[in-house]
Amino acid sequence: MVPLCDLKRQYLDLKTEIDAAMQAVAAGTQYILGPNVKALEQEVAAWCGCRHAVGVGNGTDALHLVLRALGLGPGDEVITTPFTFVATTEAIGMVGAKPVFVDIDPRTYNIDPNQVEAAITPRTKVILPVHLYGQPCDMDAIMDIAARHGLLVVEDCAQALGAAYRGRQVGTFGVAGCLSFFPSKNLGCFGDGGMIVTNDAKVYERVEMLRRHGGRVKYHHEELGLNSRLDELQAAILRVKLPHLKKWNELRRQRAYAYNRLLADLPQVMRPNELTDRGATIPLGDEAKGAPRLAAVYHQYTVQVENRDAVMQSLQAQNVGHAIYYPVPLHLQKVHANLGLGPGSFECAEQAARRCLSLPMFPELTAEQQHATVSALRKACAAGVSQRRAG
Ligand SMILES: Cc1ncc(COP(=O)(O)O)c(C=O)c1O
Repeated sequence: MVPLCDLKRQYLDLKTEIDAAMQAVAAGTQYILGPNVKALEQEVAAWCGCRHAVGVGNGTDALHLVLRALGLGPGDEVITTPFTFVATTEAIGMVGAKPVFVDIDPRTYNIDPNQVEAAITPRTKVILPVHLYGQPCDMDAIMDIAARHGLLVVEDCAQALGAAYRGRQVGTFGVAGCLSFFPSKNLGCFGDGGMIVTNDAKVYERVEMLRRHGGRVKYHHEELGLNSRLDELQAAILRVKLPHLKKWNELRRQRAYAYNRLLADLPQVMRPNELTDRGATIPLGDEAKGAPRLAAVYHQYTVQVENRDAVMQSLQAQNVGHAIYYPVPLHLQKVHANLGLGPGSFECAEQAARRCLSLPMFPELTAEQQHATVSALRKACAAGVSQRRAG
């Protein structure tokens, strides 16, 4: 059996330190906005190479709070990708703004910068790229468009903490980057957690106030905020894990490149590409030459297969973990029916949603597990082909 993700392995590796950190918080009794949250904010800011960080309740709130801090509201438009988790557009909706979708680059699953300009209107305020699966978006192109049109960029880095573009961490290009510490993320806690990183002092001050009921001084509230603070217990756990993140991300990359090699002779399986900083694809097999200037951190290793249902059935029967991130692009979700976008609106996102399949990926994944996964996938593809012929 190969799990899609194995959180227990990581916990057991760090059990002594994590248990001690949790005990210390329990005994210290400073459970809300205590010393661990403050220290983690400083550590993550330094780790990302930016000035400020603010711990919040989860990654969705991080996006919501940044958009609130930027003053977005009804009538404003935010350009983003339809191929992401719903949290991205939830945050846009929570401030009353409208998501405007732009199709993805099929090579990377990320927003296609070549199509962004056509979506800009006088109401556009923000471009919100999502570094999906841990792969950095083409930030040069996005920042250039934003600068020429006077737009702000907010980065959704929920899946990409540690990914770099031209040697610079994602989350530090735009006015703010939004992180999630959901348990299965590259840096995950034991519940919900999130963080905002920014170099902008005004955004920092505003989100810092909004996360604590809209007030700088206790019981003095300047505006309607919310209760969204990173938990002290989670911060203590994350402080144990953060020093390991670089190594874990590197291990994920190695696992991804191993998959690329093992799958090279399986033409039914389309492997994920990384982009060079000139926007071309790095030839598969040469990925390591592109890094670390441009470094994907493989939150997911996602391939495309044509006969996905049959392939999944076979993987299931062989006990190999797999998942679809995401089966329905956001423009086709009921929640966004009011946008009036039907099938065919964003062909690349729709094709990715029909064909994408994520394979087991976590830093502790062993070579044996990878070989088992690939040989199961080989069988699954053969089963898929024969089923299609029979059909
Ligand atoms: C791309 C993306 N954005 C935002 C989020 C929201 O993060 P959270 O679950 O911490 O609210 C997630 C988490 O799954 C995500 O994958």
